[in-house]
Amino acid sequence: MNSVHDALITLDRAHVWHPYTQQATAPLPVPIASAHGAWLTGVDGSEYLDLIASWWVAIHGHAHPVIAEAIGKQAHAMAQIIFAGLTHEPAVRLAEELVKRLPAGLTRIFYSDDGSTAVEVAMKMALHYWRNMGQVRGRFLVFEHGYHGDTVGAMSASRSSGLFEGYGSLLFGVDTVPFPATWVGDPDVVEKESHALGALDRYLESHGSDCAAMLIEPLIQGAGGMRICRPEFLRALVARLRGAGVLLIADEVMTGFGRCGTLFACEKAGIEPDFICLSKGLTGGFLPMAVTACQERIYAAFLGETFDRALAHGHSFTANALGCAAALASLGLFEREDTLARVAAIETVHRARLAGLGDRILYPRTMGAVAAFELALPDRRYGSSFTPRLIRFFLDRGMIIRPLGAVLYLMPPYCITPEALHRGWDGIEAAVAAFCE
Ligand SMILES: Cc1ncc(COP(=O)(O)O)c(C=O)c1O
Repeated sequence: MNSVHDALITLDRAHVWHPYTQQATAPLPVPIASAHGAWLTGVDGSEYLDLIASWWVAIHGHAHPVIAEAIGKQAHAMAQIIFAGLTHEPAVRLAEELVKRLPAGLTRIFYSDDGSTAVEVAMKMALHYWRNMGQVRGRFLVFEHGYHGDTVGAMSASRSSGLFEGYGSLLFGVDTVPFPATWVGDPDVVEKESHALGALDRYLESHGSDCAAMLIEPLIQGAGGMRICRPEFLRALVARLRGAGVLLIADEVMTGFGRCGTLFACEKAGIEPDFICLSKGLTGGFLPMAVTACQERIYAAFLGETFDRALAHGHSFTANALGCAAALASLGLFEREDTLARVAAIETVHRARLAGLGDRILYPRTMGAVAAFELALPDRRYGSSFTPRLIRFFLDRGMIIRPLGAVLYLMPPYCITPEALHRGWDGIEAAVAAFCE
């Protein structure tokens, strides 16, 4: 340890409150001086392999020079201007480029600040759409164990994650149906799917006409435990929602921008939502920014002579020009670096290494750059005493991995080399041996 390291820790302890951290028991935060590619460098010179892309944002890796340069260039021209009444090239061009790549029909781009606000905006749009259409539809349907963010609407939609028990009086009610999570060799997947679809059918029979929208994380539930469902299940679900006229909001804050192997999970699932929520990888992980995109017919319902038909939403930093420049550069990298081929290569390693763990682990699953499984721990709850111990275990081996309860997962930046990825899996093997054998 050096003196800068120690001074930063002391100051951090004195003044800083970290997210999703029990400060009394968590390992001391690690002061990081720089981050490049898949590696972080501590102020004391120690190196850490970022195997979770820093909460899933650093898709191309840290400090990608192309994105850094685009931000720098934009910063000299214009950083932020009011986005009501004014517009600018980076925002307009980004909207154009996103619309070209998004699932069919998503033609309108609304900018906000983070994944949670992207979800809030979609929920407000759905509710207001129905009001503008002269219908009262006030209910929202979500999957059990879904997670959509930390603002009030997003937390309400995430109630069954179990994370927000302490804030109950702040939240509104949502309806839930089961999510048929599956894994390699799951013998019950068809039964679980028909159980979930049966629950959906019963729900739509009684509430199909007063439900505004269903909000889903397509294919992978992230913070709920990296739970994966099959594309065919989602297609059957969407057909039922369409039959009842219920709108579909795809929260691709985590799955968007290549995580599942295609640019968007909806593409892999073969579904076309009415809204899509994007953030995290949008700016290549450089800046906080989000998008809620919707179908043209939704947008059209907000047009009229009076303001009460218009969307009452906007943030100070809407369409931040630096964020837009970063996002344009990040999108360009997908072609330039053949990013989806990189994701496919990561998936191949994930599959082989997960198979190598055999029956020492529970519920193995992989999709695109995401691999997950459960450790057979005596206490598998989120926030159990194993969490800080596991985090420490990986830190001591120079790795950033944060379990979700007993779920260990890897979601590396796409630039990770095969050697580094194998090193991550070696760390996982060591953890399985240390904690479960
Ligand atoms: C699926 C999903 N939706 C929404 C959010 C919230 O995003 P943010 O943390 O940027 O508010 C997250 C964050 O992990 C997420 O995974």
